[in-house]
Amino acid sequence: MTRRTLGNTTTSIPVIGQGATHVGSYARHDELLGEKRIKVWRAGIDVGMNLIDTADLYGGGLSEELVGKALKGIRQKVILATKFNPRPENCRESIKRSLENSLRRLQTDYVDLFQLHFPNPAVRIEEVGEAVWELMKAGEILHFGVSNFSVEELEAAQQSLRLPVVSNQVEYNLADRSAENGMLSLCERTRVTLFAYSPLGAGRLRLDESAASEMKRIADKYDKSVYQISLGWLIAKPQVAALVKSAKLEHLLDNAEAAAFPISEEDLACIDKLQEPTRIMVPTEKILLEGDSGRHVYATKEEALKNASDLIPSPELLAARLRKTGDAKPIHLVRFADPTGRFRYKLDPYDLLGQAKRYWAWVMAYGEDREIPAYVGR
Ligand SMILES: NC(=O)c1ccc[n+]([C@@H]2O[C@H](COP(=O)([O-])OP(=O)(O)OC[C@H]3O[C@@H](n4cnc5c(N)ncnc54)[C@H](OP(=O)(O)O)[C@@H]3O)[C@@H](O)[C@H]2O)c1
Repeated sequence: MTRRTLGNTTTSIPVIGQGATHVGSYARHDELLGEKRIKVWRAGIDVGMNLIDTADLYGGGLSEELVGKALKGIRQKVILATKFNPRPENCRESIKRSLENSLRRLQTDYVDLFQLHFPNPAVRIEEVGEAVWELMKAGEILHFGVSNFSVEELEAAQQSLRLPVVSNQVEYNLADRSAENGMLSLCERTRVTLFAYSPLGAGRLRLDESAASEMKRIADKYDKSVYQISLGWLIAKPQVAALVKSAKLEHLLDNAEAAAFPISEEDLACIDKLQEPTRIMVPTEKILLEGDSGRHVYATKEEALKNASDLIPSPELLAARLRKTGDAKPIHLVRFADPTGRFRYKLDPYDLLGQAKRYWAWVMAYGEDREIPAYVGR
């Protein structure tokens, strides 16, 4: 497995790390699924993918607990990355408590990379930095990173913190190239690792026809899958490491292989030039807000404002950031025909709550009458 250093540190990381999302939750726990994930993570570590990315939010803590089980006896071999979300009302204390809980679930006494999961306009980044610095001095955290930060937010953090920000996790894949609008170059310039999350577009790259056929042409040439080529393209960028979730062993092995063969400069340049898929503007009333068992996506703006399910970050907080930055990521929708034959849209179930948060943030920031930018799949 090709490796590079984490940010400006001497810590060596694989170019492909393992994501630990989609493990279920304590309420909907499937023991067999948990055991299978543990096996696949351990197989991944054996082939050199010894970075695991989890978060206190994933499965309400279940993901960290399973990762802790997977690392029994091999903790030292693994770069363990987790994430936290400070509470504005007691920022420092909440960070300390969050780390304590993560360490307990992970059955370890340190994390390699502690990441601020989302920028939060209600929390001062300096205060986060001070709290993290204290925990670093105690040896409980080796490195500090951020996630979902914009160029402006990362620059502000770099300027105001006394500890280095070694990484930023952002969505980056063939179908979402927004990282190329300044983030990639900022990371290269300031030696920050850009962790590409959802590097395979959450398993379905929604490419327009011409981009899809060009990718197929290149994939056929190397006798690889389009997924392997899109991963190879990402990790060919010197500052990028990809975080892939694979519950299936065959996917994991395909991904490991993607890091083991070179794609020619000419083909990489071809892929660089591919168009992002078309985003469309969708009237909000055409979107059906449906949860599934155990996952409630809020039916009204009032419910979303109350945020009784404690979604983090809350839709209200995301709306505040949206108003401040204007940085609206398109939501992911699935198109379907209703019983009368008319086309409507549902939130993409793969990341249902994430899409619901974005939907409500948009409505809170701009009202229900403004169309929302979206990528649409079937
Ligand atoms: N910081 C954040 O806010 C944030 C947000 C989202 C994600 N993340 C991180 O990024 C990780 C990955 O993101 P993600 O799950 O959204 O997207 P992803 O890794 O792009 O996609 C995962 C999907 O792709 C499938 N897959 C994996 N390898 C494949 C292959 N070689 N060929 C075909 N399909 C393949 C997986 O199937 P199987 O599982 O069935 O193998 C799964 O359905 C997460 O686990 C998490 O660590 C971070």
